[in-house]
Amino acid sequence: MDAISQLFSRTTSQGRSIPLILAPMAGVTDAPFRNLALRFGAHLAFSEMVASQAMIRHTPKSLRIASTLHPEPILAVQIAGSDPAVMAEAARMNEGLGARIIDINMGCPVKKICNNGAGAALLKDESRAAAIIAAVVRAVTVPVTVKIRLGWDHQHKNGLTIARLAQDNGARMVTVHGRTRTDMYHGTADWTAIAAIKQTLTIPVVGNGDVIDGQSAQKMLAVTGVDGIMMGRAALGRPWIFSQVADFLNHGTLTPPPGLDQRRTLVMDHFHAMIEHMGPVIGNRAARKHLAWHTRGLAEGARFRDAINHSPDPDTTATMIQQFFDAQPEHRVQ
Ligand SMILES: Cc1cc2nc3c(=O)[nH]c(=O)nc-3n(C[C@H](O)[C@H](O)[C@H](O)COP(=O)(O)O)c2cc1C
Repeated sequence: MDAISQLFSRTTSQGRSIPLILAPMAGVTDAPFRNLALRFGAHLAFSEMVASQAMIRHTPKSLRIASTLHPEPILAVQIAGSDPAVMAEAARMNEGLGARIIDINMGCPVKKICNNGAGAALLKDESRAAAIIAAVVRAVTVPVTVKIRLGWDHQHKNGLTIARLAQDNGARMVTVHGRTRTDMYHGTADWTAIAAIKQTLTIPVVGNGDVIDGQSAQKMLAVTGVDGIMMGRAALGRPWIFSQVADFLNHGTLTPPPGLDQRRTLVMDHFHAMIEHMGPVIGNRAARKHLAWHTRGLAEGARFRDAINHSPDPDTTATMIQQFFDAQPEHRVQ
């Protein structure tokens, strides 16, 4: 059974359960963070986008993005680019490196990406978008998926057309972020527009945008009828969001977040995994933003974040993390 069939045939004792997916996020969903999300109940976790041009040049960064640290049930790598042949080659390389799903980025709003005709810019060029999907599907044996926005702007909302052409060219799943490119991340995601795409397609449609907890997940399901839910920003520093959403959808329960001791353990595990995956220099630097998210809302968080931004090496950062958690009020009371 291929990875998409596997994902959508999951059952529990309660019956079929909806796949919960970690969104691809550049600079965030590296292997250590994916591993954390998978540990806390995500059924699938997409990699950061890897630039197809860099991938075929075998740059160390692209190879790291495309790699995994711990064996993942389903390694899903997202590729970005605008040239069908290069995208096909990058997809083939990723399949060779173990990817079991190749996702095509048609939603990134960043200028640098769009100016090269990649990401959300592909929404403006339907024939190129179709050619890329067809070329990638032909190049690999694993399922190909596509992540889109609703269109370039509110005057050009062709998300449905793009989704249909993805399906017609062999994509096995479409994820729809309910915003246009010019919306960037402003306003609220348009779930009604996601519903229209879900109603038209026969392949699975995953809804994305503004799901932050069990209640919003349930509401998105009610509005859209999507086959899966993808969450991004809500998982930053809160990887347990996936099990909380699953508990709410499956049992109606509101599960509290982990206590401080559990959080300390998961933060240390995450930090060490980043050092292992990226090496001491890049890992120590890349960990800063995750540590900032992990400590949001805790006592003296601002002071801690300032301190780790100046930490010269992993040992110093690890000591700072331990001291930070030792000093939390819950610990002082005990
Ligand atoms: C920091 C950051 C990086 C992102 N990078 C990517 C990316 O590489 N590829 C992609 O398709 N979407 C990317 N996105 C968009 C997310 O995948 C997702 O569509 C968006 O955040 C909306 O979902 P949310 O409301 O659950 O966060 C990124 C979003 C954020 C916040």
